[in-house]
This record gives sequence, C-alpha cells and structure tokens, in this order.
Amino acid sequence: MDLLDSGQKFSPRQDADWDTTLQFLPASDSKHLEKKPGRRKRLWIGAGLVLAAVAVALLTGLLVWHFHLRNDVRVKRVYIGSMGISEQHFLPEHEDPSSPQFTELANLVSQQLKLIYSKNSVLARYFKGSTVQAFSEGDGSSDGGSDSIVAYYQSEFDIPIPQQASLDEAIESLEPPAGSQQGPQGRVLLKPTDALNVKSVISQAIDPRMTRTSLVVKKIFNIHVSEAGIVQSPGFPDSSYPPNVYLQWRLRANPGHRVWLDFHTLILEDDCQQDFIKIYDSLAAIEHRALTEQCGYPHGSLSFLSSGNVMLLTLLTSDERHFPGFRANYSQIPVTAQECGGTLSANKGSLSSPFFPSNYPPKTTCVWNIEVPEEKFVKVQFNKFLMGNESNQCPNDYVDVNGQRLCGRKLKSRVITSQSNKMTIKFHSDSSYVDQGFTAEYEAFVPTNPCPGRFQCTNNLCINVTLKCDGWSDCGDGSDEDNCKCEASQMKCKNGRCKPKFWECDGFDDCGDNTDEENCVKCEPGEFSCRNGRCIPEKMKCNEEDDCSDGSDESRCEKSLVLQQCSEFTFQCRSGHCISKLNPECDGEQDCEDGSDEDNCQCGARPYRSSRIVGGQVSREGEWPWQVSLHIKGTGHVCGASVLSRHWLLTAAHCVQDNGPNKYSQADQWEALLGLHVQSQTNEWTVRRNIKRIIAHRDYNALTYNNDIALMELDTEVNLNQNIWPICLPSPTYDFPAGQEAWITGWGATREGGVAATILQKAEVRIVNSTVCKSLMNDEVLDTMLCAGVLKGGVDACQGDSGGPLSVTGPSGRVFLAGVVSWGDGCARRNKPGVYTRITKYRSWIKENSGV
Ligand code: ARG
Repeated sequence: MDLLDSGQKFSPRQDADWDTTLQFLPASDSKHLEKKPGRRKRLWIGAGLVLAAVAVALLTGLLVWHFHLRNDVRVKRVYIGSMGISEQHFLPEHEDPSSPQFTELANLVSQQLKLIYSKNSVLARYFKGSTVQAFSEGDGSSDGGSDSIVAYYQSEFDIPIPQQASLDEAIESLEPPAGSQQGPQGRVLLKPTDALNVKSVISQAIDPRMTRTSLVVKKIFNIHVSEAGIVQSPGFPDSSYPPNVYLQWRLRANPGHRVWLDFHTLILEDDCQQDFIKIYDSLAAIEHRALTEQCGYPHGSLSFLSSGNVMLLTLLTSDERHFPGFRANYSQIPVTAQECGGTLSANKGSLSSPFFPSNYPPKTTCVWNIEVPEEKFVKVQFNKFLMGNESNQCPNDYVDVNGQRLCGRKLKSRVITSQSNKMTIKFHSDSSYVDQGFTAEYEAFVPTNPCPGRFQCTNNLCINVTLKCDGWSDCGDGSDEDNCKCEASQMKCKNGRCKPKFWECDGFDDCGDNTDEENCVKCEPGEFSCRNGRCIPEKMKCNEEDDCSDGSDESRCEKSLVLQQCSEFTFQCRSGHCISKLNPECDGEQDCEDGSDEDNCQCGARPYRSSRIVGGQVSREGEWPWQVSLHIKGTGHVCGASVLSRHWLLTAAHCVQDNGPNKYSQADQWEALLGLHVQSQTNEWTVRRNIKRIIAHRDYNALTYNNDIALMELDTEVNLNQNIWPICLPSPTYDFPAGQEAWITGWGATREGGVAATILQKAEVRIVNSTVCKSLMNDEVLDTMLCAGVLKGGVDACQGDSGGPLSVTGPSGRVFLAGVVSWGDGCARRNKPGVYTRITKYRSWIKENSGV
C-alpha cells in the first residue's frame, strides 16, 4: 500500500499542476538581452534607472499604505487547542469524525468555545469559527476513574494586521471565570459552564512552519497501537520522503496505557526549518504538549512515551533533498508497568529516571526516600544526567536532591552528599519536552572517613590512590593531579601537572595548557621545520619553491606546487608529477593537472548525510556503511571488514588463519554481511555474500602480527545503497597526524574478556604518535602498524573487532581507511593503545591484488 494514498485527508490542496504555478521571471522580450553598441546602450540604461526608481517609489507607497493606513486588511490566524471535559463518556464512535456522536459532541465543543471567546472583546470581535479534529479519553477515564474526554480543536480568527499581537495575548491570557485558577505555562483552567462541564482549555498559535503555503499534501493516519507495529515515512526505505508534505500519525493506546514510539532509523535534512518531525503528548499539534522536535541525524535516545493514551507524530518537509526518512516501532505499555520512586534502606543502590534509557514520559514525578543507619551519611553520584537545558531555577524538568534542584546536561559524575542519614531524591518532568533522564548510584558512608582506603577528590568522588598524580585527571575536576611531585619519568607542566615524559612533543596537548608541546621544534626560532627534519628560514614557507625538498614547506599553502622531485611525503599524480599539497586526494579540489587526485572518489561518504568496541556507544543504522560483519557459516560473527568496492572487502590476515579444526583460510567457510546493523537482525538493506577468494598477505607473521591484512573477493558484486558504501583508501603518502580523531567500529567484545555486542558499536579514539606507541608497547609496534586509542584507558577495540576499520574523516568530509583492527595488550587498558595495520603501507599491495 502506498502510504501517501491511505488514511484521510484534511484540507486537500493537491493541485495537479501545482509546480507550474511557480515561474521564473520571463525573459520574454529577447531583444532586451541583445547587446547594443555604445550610446544607445547608455540611453537604455538611463531610461531603465528612471523606470526602476519610479517602480520602487510606487511600491514603497503601496507598502506604507498597506501596512499603516489600511487597517481593515485582515489576516487569518489559527490557534490549536485542547479542552478537557468531565462527565462525558468516551465512546468508540468518538474516534470516527463521520459518526453522529462525533458531530454532536463537536457541535457542543464549538458552541462552548464561542461562549468562552465571547467573554473577551478582542476574541469575540474577530472570531470566525472552530473545528474539532479529534477526541480522546481524558486523564480521569484512563485509570478507570470518572468519565472525561479531551477534545482537540482549531479556532480561526480574521484579524487586522496591527491587532495580531493583542489577539495572541488574549488567547494566552484568557481570564478564567471566577472560581477557577490559572495553571502553569499560561494554561487556562475554566470553570464549568452550561453546555459542557469544561475542566480546562489550553490554546496556542499554530507553528508557522505548519501553515507554509508550499505544503501540497496534508494527511492524517489513525493508528491503534494496542497491537505493535511500525510507522515510517512514505517511500521508506526504497526512496527518499516526498517534498512539501505535512503528515500526522495519531497514535492511540487502550485506556490505562501509554503509547511507546521507538525510532529505528531517523535521517532527515539537517535544517529543522526545512524538514523535521515533531512528537506531541496530545492528538493535536499544541506547542505546550510537544515532546521533541528532531531533524538531521540525531544521536540521543529516540524512544518516546506518552503520559496518557495518545501521541501525535508529525512530519513536515520542504523541497526535495533526498533523505531516507524514518521508521519507528510503536506499541503500548500499561501505565502501571513502571512504578518509580520508593524507600531505599540498603547501604548501596542505584536508581534511574522512569524508562531509562528511553526518554522519560512527561508529567511524571518520582520520589525516592533513602534512609541508612543513623551514624552514616548518604552520597549520590550521577552516571548519566540528561535533564533538558541548563537553567537557573530549573523550572521545567529537574532532579531534586535534598531540596537542591538540578537540571541540564553537565552533572555527569558529580557527587552530592547529605548531612544526615536521610536523602530524598525527586524526579519531575513537566508537560512538554522530554529528555533521556538520569542513572545514579547512592552509597552510605561514615562522615569521618568518606573514602576508606581511597583518595577523595574535591568533588567528593573517591578514586583509587594509585590514580593520584599519574598524569590523568580521574576525578573529573583535576584535583587528583594537583599538588603532585613529579617523578623522574614525568615532566612538569606549567600548570603544575605531571605527565609521562614520553608525552612531550607527541602532537597532542596532554598538559591542558599545551606546555608539553611547546619548544618541540628542533629548528631555531624563525625557522620552519620540514617533515623530513630539515630546517629552513620561516620566510621560505609558501614561497612556491620546494625548499625542504619534500614539499612540506609548500604543503599547507593556498596554492599547491608541482614539484621537481617526489618523496615519501608527496602525492603522486597519475602523470608521475608530484604535488606539494598535503592529503589532496578526494578533497573536492582538483590539484593534479590530470585530475587524478579526484579520481575514484565514490567512497567514504555516508550517502544520505550532509555532512567492540570498549567504551563506545551504539551507532545509528547507516552511519558506517563500509562496516562488514564476517561470519563463519553456522557459527556467526567472527571478524569485521571494510567495503572497498562492489567486489572487494579488506580485513585482517589473522582472521583468515586456520586454527586447529577451524579452516578459516578457506573461502567457503565464510559469509559476509554488508549493510548490517544488529547481529541476527537483517533488513532490506542487508546483503549476504559468499566469498569467492581470500588473499591474505603472503608475509603475514603470526608472531609479530606484521602484514596483518587480507582481501576477500565476493562471489557476486553488491549494489551500493545507503547502508553499503566503500571507504576511501589513502595514497601511500597520506598523513594521519598524531592527535587526530579517528573512529573504531565493530560488534566485538564490550570489555576485556566480555561478550560480543549485538548492535554495531562506535568509539572515538586518537591517532597515537609512533615513537610514544613503541615505548608503550615494548617496541612491538612496527612501521607497518599504526596506533590509536585513548591512553587514559577505557576506549578501545577488542576481541571480535579485528579486521574492521579505523575510520578518519578527511578535509572534505570523506572518510579514509587509516587502519585495520589488528592487536592490543588486553583491551582498553591505560597506556595501551590499540594497534592497527597501517593502510598507507599497503596501498600498492591492495591495487596489485584486487585492482581497487
Ligand atoms: N585480535 C583481536 C580480534 O581478533 C582484536 C584485538 C584488538 N585489540 C585491541 N585492544 N585493540 O578481534
């Protein structure tokens, strides 16, 4: 079924030839475009200028008259709202706008609105009419209590332009009749009146983007989520979503249930002014009930819950831009399923916001009362803390610890202590805009000895004493690295910190004040240090002459030089010439005269993006389209690999070595899964291929891991799609400098000795200086290897990631394969980076063996 043709339409504006109404200014009189010689031309220009001036004057006058003098010009202004009605029983017929029951109640609501507006002179004067869009069960009836209904409506006003602001004000500040109170956020609670028993009315101007005149298709889909299912943007996943549409999905759960919506894929245009989805805790698009707005390629949690039994998902798009759209799973969960808060009396424990790691639902409050033995105090540490925006009084969503309100996103690893044996933690979410929430651990402690056997940071965190003065900030506030006496193997930074000596001059600011990277140049002041170690006068830099003789003094200049000589630092064009520019390949600029630096650049881009792993995070589907999962048939995932072309994969040689009865060197044992995101969960983009041939490097050394590289040829070629795309191969002279960010990805173990991940993981690491790496890894790192990691520990590749890519984004945003996951000393240990096969050393080997 074509999604666009199902469901019901509202205010259809489908105009068969809508696109022909858009016209460019006609160059109708083609003679005007002809060249006229000398004087005649000037005459024409003079006349043109006069005409233009007259036109501008006329237009200005018209505008002044229009906006200032013609007060009677009216514009349409639309408000969206909801009305809570008590003593009304919700019937199934109220879901169907064509039923007599719907019409009857809708009429009552309209009358009621008219009555409400009649009490305000501005509203009464310009009111045009209201339409009721939908009904749902009210809060009261959802828990089986008294009967109530919520009506969702739209009210229209025709208002003179100068009066618009006063209309908005009147709507926002509708004086509730005596006896009722004003709710939070300008919400108006009205007193019961004759026609209907109105509990509350909220109303707000419609989001101006939703009234864009370019919108050609507006549709509503009604979905019951009592049976789980999926919603997706039209065309998903085979084609991009259509331009200029406004689509609404009304999701209804059974009474007493919440709607749960969990996005599996969400890739839209980056600019939220153009394309976006917005989710509401309501059946109408009322800003006061918005839960989230998303566009682009979001990274946070994309799992949402309603407070009641309804939710609205909207998609708005503008011009055609070719993004895939979204797919989300929906289902319902009983409101009673998740009880939050309670009494905690153990010495230690953990707590989290409701439904973590999903976004918490709106309008939720949980209270935890922690009480530990008399003589102890309580401390709580937040491991995750994502509670809306930072603000002074935390008026919206917050966590309250013993009366102190916390909000924002910066509290991670803060410790808060009590001054008694009791602590009360309260979680609160208001009616709009949700976030992922928090996880925390609490612990009782003896006030005289808060960190027994451990070091106490200024922020009250306790850390192992061995971590004090080791060169790393473990407290998070640096207090474990203050007032240290540096050891012989350490250098003293200007800011007083001690850092391992081998960090000096590794291209990365370890001190935090860059003092470890100062005075590194061995050349004299006023000299430039070439990459080959030579020193030349600074002024010879970028003088369009290769003074270093390796091109490096001309490599970061505006203009790239064609060099007389090639070196290990310069890029060689197909013509044989070398150019001085650093990493010129596929950077979007033609640098070689023959254009060969921009050849074969159909790689390294995420087709739709504009722009294990230990210690990593789950990646989004399609984020790493070159990542491959290599399976041994009948066993499952064993290694990673990268897509090089429609025929070829690159992996590690150690993945394809026979191991006792396991004949890993035989191609028919393997199966490659491309476009895979979750192990054992293939979808329409996943492609399975048998392997025709394995070419492991002839000189692979199982002892030293030297030449840990292998090619795999697929038995039949794959079609590239948004989840399958080759990564760019760097030329032999491509430079990956120490300190540069790189990403590792894979389904390997998520901790040393741990189990493999099911969802593809990603983690950010940095290229580590080779000299530093050699000394850290007992000189076992060869020139054919590249180190990358987070030396502080905690982030690394691990068992099962082998063969997978170390991806580095080049200057133009294209991603290059810097390394192949090869080996390490354990996983994610401090000062033990991961070791990767250095791809630049194997560029010609790859070409000779695969042709890529
Ligand atoms: N050899 C491992 C494998 O087969 C990968 C090791 C990577 N280790 C590391 N700490 N970076 O999966």
